[in-house]
Amino acid sequence: MKHETAVMEQATRLRTEAYWMPFTHNRYLKKNPRSRILARAEGAYYTTVEGRRLFDCVSGMWCCPLGHGHPKIAEAVARQVKELDYSPAFQMGHPKIFSLAERIVRLAPAGMGQVFFANSGSEAVDTALKIAVAYHRMKGEAARTRLIGRERGYHGVGIGGISVGGIAPNRKMFAPLLLQGIDHLPHTYNAAEMAFSRGQPKWGAHLADELERLVALHDASTIAAVIVEPVQGSAGVIVPPAGYLERLRAICDKHGILLIFDEVITGFGRLGEPFGAQRFGVVPDMITFAKIVTNGVIPMGGVIVKPAIHDAFMTGPETAVELFHGYTYSGHPVAAAAAHATLDAIEEEASFKQVRELEPVLERAAHSLKGEPGVSDIRNIGLVAAIELEPLRENVQARPGARALKVFERAMEDGMLFRFTGDIIAMAPPFISTQTEIGRMVEVLRGAIRATH
Ligand SMILES: Cc1ncc(COP(=O)(O)O)c(C=O)c1O
Repeated sequence: MKHETAVMEQATRLRTEAYWMPFTHNRYLKKNPRSRILARAEGAYYTTVEGRRLFDCVSGMWCCPLGHGHPKIAEAVARQVKELDYSPAFQMGHPKIFSLAERIVRLAPAGMGQVFFANSGSEAVDTALKIAVAYHRMKGEAARTRLIGRERGYHGVGIGGISVGGIAPNRKMFAPLLLQGIDHLPHTYNAAEMAFSRGQPKWGAHLADELERLVALHDASTIAAVIVEPVQGSAGVIVPPAGYLERLRAICDKHGILLIFDEVITGFGRLGEPFGAQRFGVVPDMITFAKIVTNGVIPMGGVIVKPAIHDAFMTGPETAVELFHGYTYSGHPVAAAAAHATLDAIEEEASFKQVRELEPVLERAAHSLKGEPGVSDIRNIGLVAAIELEPLRENVQARPGARALKVFERAMEDGMLFRFTGDIIAMAPPFISTQTEIGRMVEVLRGAIRATH
């Protein structure tokens, strides 16, 4: 209780000036910060410093689906800090990171062989892009340097990630820094063809053929890799059309281009399977992951590769470093302990099954919002759903994002913490959610949509 009072007191005296918040409307938030300051979390709920309880509708930022304060993860982290708090990442190792790599390979689709560890999704993506270019060079195809991303793709904020990413505001301020030799596939969203689809839209597989056009334009011998999120998350939940990923795979195979799935959001169960690769039955050459691997408790990311990619580097003198890449905190022992405990919990709690059981519950609830004022689309897959709203207008001019902000704030007053991108409200509730909680989440959203129209 003493601690609780101290937290609240701290918040009363909150000075916001020195902290430049990431991806945040700093000036707006700091006018009235207290409703946005979280004091504690337990299970599927946060509590703000004002004492308001919020259901965690997006599992933190897609990363805490097993619930906050998971006792097994907390214990594993505490134990590890005492046992081995840090181990040099280069030229040294520790047992838990070897066994974790093995475990992740076992969870990955058949045909994957090794894991390279990083500390975030952004680092995982830049690592995968570097491995792709270096791999072709090791194979004697040094001209294969071109990287292909996709419009509306989000691959973090590293220079590689924003270059292959396809969200304009993330790119335009940094334009001079963007990598050369990048191209983008078209995104697969088309409201006229797929609005209100449940699961994978039927229309749109042919959009993968755009890759053939890029191959014709540049020649396959210049292209290293294609990177896509199996489900585009940050851009507002864009579900791949049926057959699309299969076609991308076939075209990459035909031309010797590596296919990278960025599974930072979809990895470790969000779609009811360990990875999107298994959900969609398409095996890429590399998979990037982060977030759920540690239930968000300690940062960790990584890249899973096929043995052929790893083995291409294992040449030259045995005493020489094979890949000149890595981070001080690659494979951090505390993150490794958190990841083991997370994977234990996923097994013990049958998390993938939980997601598969909740998927139709969320689907039904989300699609019941069809017909509410200003709702222009609803889409879902796994334990993810998005509601797209028509933008507010001022003198005919659209004000993108203004409507979703109102809905977000209204929903928070009613105990729900959503996320929004533009005018799209995303839901990715914890795997431990009950059916009642999912129902309530959607009803609060309905109320907020009506109240703000
Ligand atoms: C698909 C994808 N890739 C990469 C990232 C970046 O991850 P991080 O914020 O951990 O760097 C994200 C973050 O949401 C993501 O969704």
